Amino acid sequence: MRVIIENTSANAAEWAARHVVRRIKEKAAATDAPFVLGLPTGSTPMGMYRALVRMYEAGEVSFANVVTFNMDEYVGIPENHPESYHTFMRENFFDHVDIPAANINILDGNAPDLARECADYERRIADAGGIDLFVGGVGEDGHIAFNEPFSSLSSRTRVKTLTTDTLIVNSRFFGGDVNAVPKQAMTVGVATILSAREVLIMALGHNKARAVRHGVEGSYNHRWTITAMQTHPAGIIVCDDAAAEELRVSTYRYFKDLERDNLL
Ligand code: GLP
Repeated sequence: MRVIIENTSANAAEWAARHVVRRIKEKAAATDAPFVLGLPTGSTPMGMYRALVRMYEAGEVSFANVVTFNMDEYVGIPENHPESYHTFMRENFFDHVDIPAANINILDGNAPDLARECADYERRIADAGGIDLFVGGVGEDGHIAFNEPFSSLSSRTRVKTLTTDTLIVNSRFFGGDVNAVPKQAMTVGVATILSAREVLIMALGHNKARAVRHGVEGSYNHRWTITAMQTHPAGIIVCDDAAAEELRVSTYRYFKDLERDNLL
């Protein structure tokens, strides 16, 4: 695992955006096949999306041959609800770049048969050739996508019931009303994320420091689903200093030294 520790959240966002752009260009130089990108929502990736839009506007990257799969979506709120992940993605990214609408995949939280929608989503990912790079955030309790504590580390796309912790944390987007937050979400599984050829998890701010500590130094377990990153052959955690605060000094120094000296 690589752990990138930037001094500010803005620099961490910039690092993540540059990494995405580099990977898109590398694949474009090698093949006509689309780049398949897994994407998150939440406050964490917003700086990365702003940087990607800026790079697109500057002519540094095109998303015309990029296919995206979002991580998750709430169950039962209208697609155009201000807090749906469909709306989030349109407002923060898709409406500002040249990605064709047909290349965008987001789970349908209003599908008549949710289990079938989840199985179809896995099939669509496979049909696209698998995900080249899955970008994600992490919850305060260490969840990736909506793989709440005690999710199977072999899970695939499915419906999950959200924990009270997550309902409370996410109520800030629903006027502070915990009861307004949907109780269930559809989410890619831990194994869906780990099946990507590369995974980049972003963690910004002090609230994520415990999740980063478990993810980097803790043992592999379903209580902190971020720990599954330890089994990925090409996993990267990108954090700011605040999110790295609970790492041991020696761990912090080790990863800082590796990146400074460009070592493997
Ligand atoms: C939600 C999302 C996750 C996200 C997490 C953290 O639970 N399903 O994908 O990583 O929130 O959100 P934030 O980035 O706002 O802290």
